[in-house]
Amino acid sequence: MAVRVCLAGATGWAGSELARGIARSEDLTLVAAVSRTHAGRALGDVVGDPRLDCRLYATAAEALSQSCDVFVEYTRPESAASHILTALEHGAHVVVGTSGLTADDFAAIDAAAVTRRRGVLAAGNFSLTAVLLLKCAELAARILPHWEIIDYAHDDKVDAPSGTARELAERLSKVRQPTPTVPIDQTMGPRESRGATVSGSQVHSLRLPGFVISAEVLFGMPDQRLSIRHDSGNSAVPYVDGALLAIRRVSTLVGVHRGLDAVLDLG
Ligand SMILES: NC(=O)c1ccc[n+]([C@@H]2O[C@H](COP(=O)([O-])OP(=O)(O)OC[C@H]3O[C@@H](n4cnc5c(N)ncnc54)[C@H](OP(=O)(O)O)[C@@H]3O)[C@@H](O)[C@H]2O)c1
Repeated sequence: MAVRVCLAGATGWAGSELARGIARSEDLTLVAAVSRTHAGRALGDVVGDPRLDCRLYATAAEALSQSCDVFVEYTRPESAASHILTALEHGAHVVVGTSGLTADDFAAIDAAAVTRRRGVLAAGNFSLTAVLLLKCAELAARILPHWEIIDYAHDDKVDAPSGTARELAERLSKVRQPTPTVPIDQTMGPRESRGATVSGSQVHSLRLPGFVISAEVLFGMPDQRLSIRHDSGNSAVPYVDGALLAIRRVSTLVGVHRGLDAVLDLG
């Protein structure tokens, strides 16, 4: 039987591309979607895809009146937590693409998910090459003690560092703390020239026209270097396959799991 999906943010940049991906998937069916602006219309009329005949609702609670197995949250940080908690109350498993949820949000969501024996899979970046960046960097950090992170993005990205760079720094901090040869607080000259210290890693954020989104970690050893880098283009296509995989596998989880690798067999 097809997995029934309710998608919040289905008319957005990321959500509409995911909706098209669901439409192409025989094992998934979109039963309801959320958008305040287009409530009452068929999703396909709004995003120009006649295969998407489900209705748009103004709120997650209304959309969840249609029974679903998995609720996907792809809206905004300010609405995400209440959508997720509402979905869990309705008995759905939840996939979260929205960035910017706090640790407190995740703690409350985890408690609700565990109580209801439901899975929540949250990934700041559903792109497969981004998750491989995280995993390969974790492996490298087990052996190489010196690294720094560069986060590249377009000039109008307002937040820094990016969610991917933060996630990378957090993951690496669980492997070990990097050891700068000159401690950062002993830098001669402006301390900021060494970047921000995020979960123990130095992170340098570039915001320039001509860039889209890239994250790179550089490991240095005497007379040798390793760089591991993820680049994405202008479209939301890179996030679709990972989100589809998350929808298919989230029901195998209980509680909150962070990162797509929670459902990838990467060893
Ligand atoms: N995890 C990943 O791989 C990944 C990839 C790309 C983006 N993202 C994240 O996903 C989120 C969405 O990004 P985007 O670029 O797609 O944004 P967007 O183009 O602005 O789309 C936002 C969508 O959410 C809906 N929405 C916004 N506020 C809402 C609310 N209060 N209640 C119900 N619906 C609401 C919007 O429709 P209405 O305005 O009509 O309600 C629209 O459909 C962001 O947090 C972004 O950082 C994550």
